[in-house]
Amino acid sequence: MGAGPDGIDGVRLLERYGPWVVIAGASEGMGRDYARMLAGHGLNCVLVSRRKALLDEQAAGLERDHGIRTRAIALDLSEHDAAQRLFDLTSDLDVGLYISNAGADPRGAYFLDCPIGDWLGMLQRNTATVMGSCHRFATAMKRRGRGGILIMASGAGLGGGPRLAVYSATKAFEIAFAESLWSELGPHGIDVTCLVAPATDTPALRRLLERSGLKPEGLFASEEVARTGLRELGRGPTYIFPFADVTPEQAAAHSEARRERVEEVARSSAAMFYGKDD
Ligand SMILES: NC(=O)c1ccc[n+]([C@@H]2O[C@H](COP(=O)([O-])OP(=O)(O)OC[C@H]3O[C@@H](n4cnc5c(N)ncnc54)[C@H](OP(=O)(O)O)[C@@H]3O)[C@@H](O)[C@H]2O)c1
Repeated sequence: MGAGPDGIDGVRLLERYGPWVVIAGASEGMGRDYARMLAGHGLNCVLVSRRKALLDEQAAGLERDHGIRTRAIALDLSEHDAAQRLFDLTSDLDVGLYISNAGADPRGAYFLDCPIGDWLGMLQRNTATVMGSCHRFATAMKRRGRGGILIMASGAGLGGGPRLAVYSATKAFEIAFAESLWSELGPHGIDVTCLVAPATDTPALRRLLERSGLKPEGLFASEEVARTGLRELGRGPTYIFPFADVTPEQAAAHSEARRERVEEVARSSAAMFYGKDD
């Protein structure tokens, strides 16, 4: 028992977050890595994304290689009812872990250069669908007293910039949302971790870079980022990769400082609100 050389405790993963994990955004990149790693530790996988053929192929490979069960669900997470549909399609399964991975910006465009409908789709996928899924899955996890939620955010969520208006705002939402859930759900046995990922070598980022004629250089390996996510699950609330361009003085960009801040907010909110409706 205990963590392996990669820092991941496979037995704990299965006991605490099994038997089923739902991976929203599983057909490539880090979502695919999460599925492979978790299947390797014996967790059954619900694979969700839009490209069903990729999911079916992946599901067959995981069942063959790891002897686990899978369910492939083709779903557009930017649809308004995606969280409810995802929950309905998995309601017969004992889901112990929900991973929100789908969330990159395929456009990299200025705010006014895309129709508002495009931005609203990203807003829905990265906020309302994540929120709705967490509410539904965590309600079931709370009932049985254990579970986990892992949300993939981004360094872009630490502040805005050109071509990032909606993306960075949704990633900031994910960070703050996960930190609050970490405080609220921890006492019920539900671990919540938000991974503030760095520039990572995924097919989605490569497509974006290629479109701009840029080379994929200086990127983190997708597998390393996913491994870190599984290692940090249970620590939380926020794991921020060391970014070369952030100084230590920018304390909001440090995992420990954010944890301390969340704990401080929890203390002061307890002083303000307890006794009113708890
Ligand atoms: N790559 C990076 O450099 C980087 C950096 C920081 C943070 N992140 C975060 O890491 C996560 C993964 O990023 P990524 O680079 O792998 O790209 P991504 O575009 O988020 O793709 C990941 C998966 O999500 C699925 N997906 C995307 N949109 C979807 C939708 N509307 N409905 C259902 N599934 C959808 C994709 O499959 P389908 O196309 O088949 O639907 C794919 O399997 C994101 O949350 C992103 O914000 C990435």
